[in-house]
Amino acid sequence: MEFVIITIFPELVEQVFKWGILRRAVEAAKLSYRLVDPREFTNDRHKSIDDVAYGGRPGMVMMCEPIFKAMEALEAQDALKESRKFIHLTPIGRLLNWETAEDLAGNDQLILLAGRYEGIDQRVIDTFADDEISVGDYVLSGGELAAMVLVDAVARFIPEVVGNERSVAQDSFTTGLLDHPHYTRPADFRGMKVPAVLLSGNHAEIENWRREQAEQLTRRKRPDLWKRYNSGKSGGTGGRSGGK
Ligand code: ADE
Repeated sequence: MEFVIITIFPELVEQVFKWGILRRAVEAAKLSYRLVDPREFTNDRHKSIDDVAYGGRPGMVMMCEPIFKAMEALEAQDALKESRKFIHLTPIGRLLNWETAEDLAGNDQLILLAGRYEGIDQRVIDTFADDEISVGDYVLSGGELAAMVLVDAVARFIPEVVGNERSVAQDSFTTGLLDHPHYTRPADFRGMKVPAVLLSGNHAEIENWRREQAEQLTRRKRPDLWKRYNSGKSGGTGGRSGGK
């Protein structure tokens, strides 16, 4: 899978590929990335990528030409893959969730457009965007952080990116439940004790405890997920039957 990210802040976005799991995935060639700066596709001295909005609104709008030229350059280099999706990161997009992330991981290439300023000329979106995605109901200063969130969430679903594949299957949401609490040594830290069952060595009991904890947490913190989880269990189409 290749991520192509169109951004005027390539150094910022590159950070997501420089650390931890994603860095290892890049080194192991499980994923690759390409950063495209629209400023490289401008002709004027100031490398302008934005202009005032028609209709007289405060704020600047990213112009068509640099982004069209960036896409044309990718095409000319034969860098566009057959199985690809072009995604515009925007607060007006549909909300990202794990199902979308898993679905997107099935493509060979994701082209992510991270906008800045007040927005992007609609003709860019009309021409290229297959999808518009938001990472939450709040407005970021630009799409870069949103693109980084999407990259990380999608990458976890690319085979062999997460070292232990079971841990993706056990992630919160993938199971339909929030994750249970975790503990490590020492068993007693300043009087705060690890639940005895986890020290028992009884794997069936440990699994039961984890499931109960996950169910209680989900019921309390996310009644929406809990409802869906239960409708999935009773043979409905929503949710998964769990897996813990
Ligand atoms: N750009 C600005 N805010 C955003 C958000 N919430 N999601 C995706 N892209 C954005």
